[in-house]
Amino acid sequence: MRVGIIGAGTIGKAIFAYLQSSGVAEVDYLLVSDAKKTRDFDRGGSLILDDADEALARRVDLLIEAAMADNVRTMAPIALKDSDFCGFSCTALADAATEAAILSACAASGRSFFVPHGAVLALDGIRDGRDLIESVTITTTKSGKSLGLPDEHSEGVVFEGSTRDVCARFPRNVNVHAAVALAGIGFDRTRSRVIAQPGLKENIHHIEVRGRGFNWSIDASSYSLGGVTGAYTPLSAVGSLKRILDRKGIVVV
Ligand SMILES: NC(=O)c1ccc[n+]([C@@H]2O[C@H](COP(=O)([O-])OP(=O)(O)OC[C@H]3O[C@@H](n4cnc5c(N)ncnc54)[C@H](O)[C@@H]3O)[C@@H](O)[C@H]2O)c1
Repeated sequence: MRVGIIGAGTIGKAIFAYLQSSGVAEVDYLLVSDAKKTRDFDRGGSLILDDADEALARRVDLLIEAAMADNVRTMAPIALKDSDFCGFSCTALADAATEAAILSACAASGRSFFVPHGAVLALDGIRDGRDLIESVTITTTKSGKSLGLPDEHSEGVVFEGSTRDVCARFPRNVNVHAAVALAGIGFDRTRSRVIAQPGLKENIHHIEVRGRGFNWSIDASSYSLGGVTGAYTPLSAVGSLKRILDRKGIVVV
């Protein structure tokens, strides 16, 4: 099994470290924005790439994106001809043309696009219940700084609307909303709210699901590691990768 990784930040590094230490799959390449600035992974040879076309030409078995939504938009439809693809920046799929290109590439090749649960829990349950789900509302509370707002002291509701629109407004911060929409009732019917709270160190996600015969409240909060990602997500990313790679025996999905 040959794996390519896009992005050498918090999630990309955790995935790279797991694959290097476990040896369960070979890391064929790590695609970074600027190879000259990358010293952490100096294994010599052709591990580090900064050219997306060169990366795609390597035709790995699994490509894992942990960089930016734009990498999903430009690379997933091409990669899916030969590779499975796991995208952490799944706000990219809120763009209808990108989602359609991904679905058509999967249909043509028989490959899969994996949506990891990332920072939240219970996507499996939402997926299973979606035929009976009537409404899903996700509220994310973060500091203005973490949301990339011009005024880091912003306070209160800074977005309320559809998940499709919030993905365009905060593509780096609402991957959880995109993942819940993809698992459940879609980008247009899922409602999103974003609240800025000055000085908040946690990323807090509150998901309210109402269905015919059930109501769920799902709360997940984790401390920011400094960037957009909370403390739990690198662990969750490695867990999703293990499940993708270990599809044999008893598999908890
Ligand atoms: N689904 C979820 O629940 C979830 C949770 C946390 C983070 N995320 C998303 O996952 C992605 C990665 O998160 P992270 O915390 O590791 O981010 P990060 O900022 O720590 O790392 C991203 C890395 O990608 C690199 N990069 C940017 N453009 C690139 C390009 N064109 N080619 C190659 N590399 C490029 C950056 O230089 C950086 O090293 C982000 O988009 C983030 O929003 C999703």
